[in-house]
Amino acid sequence: MIVCGHRGIASLAPENTLAGLREAHRLGFTWVEIDVQLTRDEQVVVAHDEKVNRCTNGKGWLRQFDWQELSRLDAGSWFSPAFADERIPLLRDYLALATRLGMHVNIEFKLYPGDDAERLCRRVSEIMAPGPFAPEKLLFSSFEPDCLRHLQKLQPNVARALLVEKIPDDWQTQLHRLSCRALHCHYRHLTQAQAQAVSAAGYQLNCYTVNQQCQADKLASWGVNMIFTDKPLTTSGRR
Ligand code: G3P
Ligand code: CA
Repeated sequence: MIVCGHRGIASLAPENTLAGLREAHRLGFTWVEIDVQLTRDEQVVVAHDEKVNRCTNGKGWLRQFDWQELSRLDAGSWFSPAFADERIPLLRDYLALATRLGMHVNIEFKLYPGDDAERLCRRVSEIMAPGPFAPEKLLFSSFEPDCLRHLQKLQPNVARALLVEKIPDDWQTQLHRLSCRALHCHYRHLTQAQAQAVSAAGYQLNCYTVNQQCQADKLASWGVNMIFTDKPLTTSGRR
């Protein structure tokens, strides 16, 4: 089982920052998960919340900031003064660093009510077009099936995962329709029988957000392929 750093490695560095990516790499992680959204001027940035309030020294809706304004915000001091130089990264810069470090990245397409899924997918696809981001080192995921449909057309070579909280009855039909490689679910709702059924159907099963070693060990024994964690957990001593 792979242990993937959630939002970088959110318990040890400010989430969704380049510092988090470096820290995850330093600890031996080979995968990180991040969230992406669009600014008002259609730049793709790495950020989780709909507002900038929690993770920066600014206030307001992220989608109402132009990149230039957003790039001036301090995205690290809320976590610790040692990270005062951190900024909300552009996806392009995040992927460039991940490529240099040889890291795999799960990009979650974060869509809030009113956001345009196609626009976000198109902009991410444009960023990827010039390379050198290896498709096999990326995994796209979203709670929005529409988003996965757009990605299937725009970037067919990058694997996709459907994100759900609780596995729905029609999971297999949805994964088949969207040509997904993986299903991502909250570990709390998962049963061993479901885990076995997803694996038996030939899909990967990845669980969020697992912050206890005993939970990680149980999911590994159920055949789960990857967990997302804020903490430096291991699986059989590895990440
Ligand atoms: O992608 C798994 C997990 O990150 C989804 O929840 O809210 O942490 O983005 P959230
Ligand atoms: Ca996420």
